[in-house]
Amino acid sequence: MDSPAQQLMRNPVFSHVYERLWRPVFTRLFSLGGTGTADFDRALTAYLSRPGERLVLDVACGPGNYTRRVADGLTGDGRCIGIDFSPAMLSMAARTNAGPRAGYIRADAHAIPFADNTFDSVTCLAALYLIPDPLPVVDELVRVARPGGEIVVFTSVSTELDALPGVRAVAGASGYRIFGRHEIIERLRSAGAEHVEQTITGQGQYVIAVKPG
Ligand SMILES: C[S@@+](CC[C@H](N)C(=O)[O-])C[C@H]1O[C@@H](n2cnc3c(N)ncnc32)[C@H](O)[C@@H]1O
Repeated sequence: MDSPAQQLMRNPVFSHVYERLWRPVFTRLFSLGGTGTADFDRALTAYLSRPGERLVLDVACGPGNYTRRVADGLTGDGRCIGIDFSPAMLSMAARTNAGPRAGYIRADAHAIPFADNTFDSVTCLAALYLIPDPLPVVDELVRVARPGGEIVVFTSVSTELDALPGVRAVAGASGYRIFGRHEIIERLRSAGAEHVEQTITGQGQYVIAVKPG
């Protein structure tokens, strides 16, 4: 049975409020009301949307909020493709975040429908913590990155906060997973990624890794 978090992602009403309301609030919550996560997020988005003819894959793209921003910065034959398994999110993406360099496909992140070594950048932002079996998805991110390509993840991380009584129980019951500090970086390395850099901001972690060329 789907967790409450998974059910929410399939809800059409949620897909309407996600980009403008939920995501900005959630981003701030990650730094507990501060701006650390939002600041890092802005810098990362600017980096991912730098001009170039890159092929970018945005895994678990939701309503295409990052897909579109990245696609808009690309040039020439550059493209950003978003994949997600929620029809509600994808129809919102097609309606609000379409663009000449943005495209969307319905797919499960456990079986990304692209060949090995395809993308210059592969992102998976704010999604791994909702996926019941997330570590095989990390392997998929590395598989579809091209040699020399980058893998970018934003997800949860364990901090002093989740040691407080009840926090882990509430998170678990809602379907929100809190990753151990080394879980994502170790899985990226065991999938073959190198130069794995982790930045922890508040309750979240940004991880950038490179697939060896
Ligand atoms: C919180 S949204 C993140 C959207 C966007 N990446 C962002 O950073 O705002 C999480 C998305 O993950 C998607 N998702 C969850 N499990 C998935 C899976 N197994 N395959 C593809 N998408 C999945 C949900 O449908 C939802 O749209």
